Amino acid sequence: MASKSSSQPKVRVLLVCLGNICRSPSAHGVLEKYIKDKGLEEQIEVDSAGTGDWHIGKPPDPRSITAARKRGYDLSQLVARQVRARDFQDFDYILAMDRSNLRALQELSPPSHRARLRLFLDYGSSAHDTVPDPYYSGEQGFELVLDLIEDACERLLTEIATEHLDSSASAS
Ligand code: 4NP
Repeated sequence: MASKSSSQPKVRVLLVCLGNICRSPSAHGVLEKYIKDKGLEEQIEVDSAGTGDWHIGKPPDPRSITAARKRGYDLSQLVARQVRARDFQDFDYILAMDRSNLRALQELSPPSHRARLRLFLDYGSSAHDTVPDPYYSGEQGFELVLDLIEDACERLLTEIATEHLDSSASAS
């Protein structure tokens, strides 16, 4: 795939859940793989964070790592961090996994900021509008998280390509 000039700033996407150990690192790993597979690493950058502080410095939940690995996504190098004030200037998109995290982001955000705050599943096509917290669920909860994330990542990348990247870098 043709790559856009590196002088263009990257489009930056921050994926946010509560603990940054289940849903948002899963979305981080999936979106990063899709970006790599489409040859868009020079144009789009991904990070993830939690609105809570309990798991700062920890790796993703082992159940998330295992479920993701089975589908070809590597979460093993990710480390949890909390959302910080400068994220609202540094990122173009800040996407929350559920409504309580979106509300927390809206409360944290300065009056004027660069980031577009939305629900991640605004980009999804299923009946779910939020990604259910799998922390207290069984294996199926982690599979559903990945199903919903994979679905939304396709449309998110299409929107980013349409709005921010030149036509030679389409996310097809
Ligand atoms: P996440 O899941 O927000 O998808 O990372 C959770 C992880 C930990 C907790 C809650 C949700 N917790 O209460 O510790």
